[in-house]
Parts: sequence; structure tokens; C-alpha cells
Amino acid sequence: MTLLDGKQIAATIRAELREEIDALRQAGHRVPCLAVVIVGENPASVTYVRNKMRACEEVGIRVERIALPDTVSEEELLAEVHRLNADPAIDGFIVQLPLPAHINESTILSAIDYRKDVDGLTPENVGRTVQGQPSIVSATPRGIRELLARYNIPTAGKHVVVIGRSNIVGKPVAMLLMQRPYLSLPGMSAASLGDATVTICHSKTQDLAAICRTADIIIVAAGSPGLLTADMVRPGATIIDVGINRVPTTNDQRLTTNDQRPATKLVGDVDFENVAPKAAYITPVPGGVGPMTIVSLLQNTLQAYNEHS
Ligand code: GUN
Repeated sequence: MTLLDGKQIAATIRAELREEIDALRQAGHRVPCLAVVIVGENPASVTYVRNKMRACEEVGIRVERIALPDTVSEEELLAEVHRLNADPAIDGFIVQLPLPAHINESTILSAIDYRKDVDGLTPENVGRTVQGQPSIVSATPRGIRELLARYNIPTAGKHVVVIGRSNIVGKPVAMLLMQRPYLSLPGMSAASLGDATVTICHSKTQDLAAICRTADIIIVAAGSPGLLTADMVRPGATIIDVGINRVPTTNDQRLTTNDQRPATKLVGDVDFENVAPKAAYITPVPGGVGPMTIVSLLQNTLQAYNEHS
């Protein structure tokens, strides 16, 4: 079993990006600039945004944080989106999700100029990806594809089972991996990626275990800790765990009674301990898909800069 070390691959890609952006600066060009819009103070969103900003700064991407109160109206948020669409100093921007209940997420995402949509979530970019046109691919699918590529795991002709049908992971990753490989991503060898036979499963799928047992690659993005168990996995399969679940730590996992660690830990959607011995390749949580998602946002920002500035 080989661990797919997203943390290490992401560090390698950040070093490549830093070099490319240093070269831009040394040639007298302005550096790429990302804006991040955060509405309210959802603790998970605050952490995600902090991590994204730190990663930008590390590679030399300028980053602007726009914090709006959770009382902001849909109209005011739309006005901010239009302002960012028109600002020539901003190469790309994201609106961190989730948004407060009184704001329609799809109205906001649809208003983002697809050329600046570095999250790849606008209907325009999703449609372009589906049709195999040049597009900005959403961050997690791009990160998964990159991780497979960097470990030379081919997808052509393989059976990929995706568990989860979200707009942000399940649907786009399925589209990406079944594409003809002409949908290449800048800086990536596309030769053996795409051309997969993809099955998308979800909460209403009957006999999920039997379908999973026919998979060469399983991508789990269901948000359900321990969903994928060892009996569902064919020996030698590749397992990509997109889940990020915070679960209580049992007392016996603490070192001493004085252990001050919070009584929670991060786990994925895979029963890692029992699945890992059967897998050929598997992503850990944390340190697998998560760091790849952030680095994809950086790559998308540089892509937007290169294509439209
Ligand atoms: N919330 C959780 N993941 C994401 C993401 O990738 N993009 C945005 N905008 N919000 C998120």
C-alpha cells in the first residue's frame, strides 16, 4: 500500500508556482491577485480562508480578504461580485461557501465572471468542463486529477466509482475523469488521465458495496465518516477520500488525563485502518486531498492571470 501524500505533492507544486511567480516579478510584471469574499464568521470558513490566504502568500500571489457581515443583503453581495468582476487588479476571486440562508448561493455564483471564477463553480465553467472546452476546473476535482497524475495512476479504461453527487466534488470529478484527455490542464501531463468509465453513486444507490467491489478507483465524497469499509474494496484498488469530518476522540486516544488536546479529530469517509491494507494507493485524512484542493486554487488563480491579464 502506498500513501498518496497530498501534503508533499502540494508543497512541490507550491515551490513550482513560487518559481513561476518570482520570474514574473523579476521580469517587471505585476503578480497575480486573488480576492476572497467571506460572509459572516462560520468557524470552518474562517479556518479555510486563513489557510487559502497563507498558501497564496507563500507562493507570492497577492491576496485581498473582503469580510462582510452575515446581515449583508443578497443585493449588496451581488454589488461586491460586480465590483470584483470589473476590477482589473483582481485576476480571480472566490465567495466562500456556505452563505447565510437568506442569500441564494446559485444567484451569487452565477454572477461571477467565469474568467475570474477560480473556484470553477459558475455554470459557464461547469458547462465548459462538461463539453471539454478550456475552463477553470473546480479545486477538489483538479487536485484529485493532479494527485493521480503525479503518482502515475492511469484512469484510461478504468472503472472509477464516485460516491457523492455534489456540485463541488462528485459531479465535476466524474466529468473530468471520463473526458477525452484533450481537456488538459496547464502544467500537467494529460496523457493517461481521463477516459475512465465512471459510475456515480449516492445516498439512494442500491447495493453500493457490490458496485464499489467492481471499482479500480473509488472516490468518496459523501461527508459520512467510515462509509467505505474494507468489504467494499477490491484488493489493489486506489482509494481517494475527500471526506473531512470532525468526530469526538474517545478518551483512550488521549495520552494522559492531563492531555489538553481537543476531544475531536479529523477523519475522512473511509474506514482507513481496515481499508488501507487492501488498497494499492490511498489518501490519508488529513494530508491527502485537502492540501491538493488549496494548491488547485493557486493554480487556477495563475491560470486566470495567464489567460486574461
Ligand atoms: N466551502 C467549502 N469548500 C469550498 C470551496 O472550495 N470553495 C468555496 N467558495 N467555498 C467552499
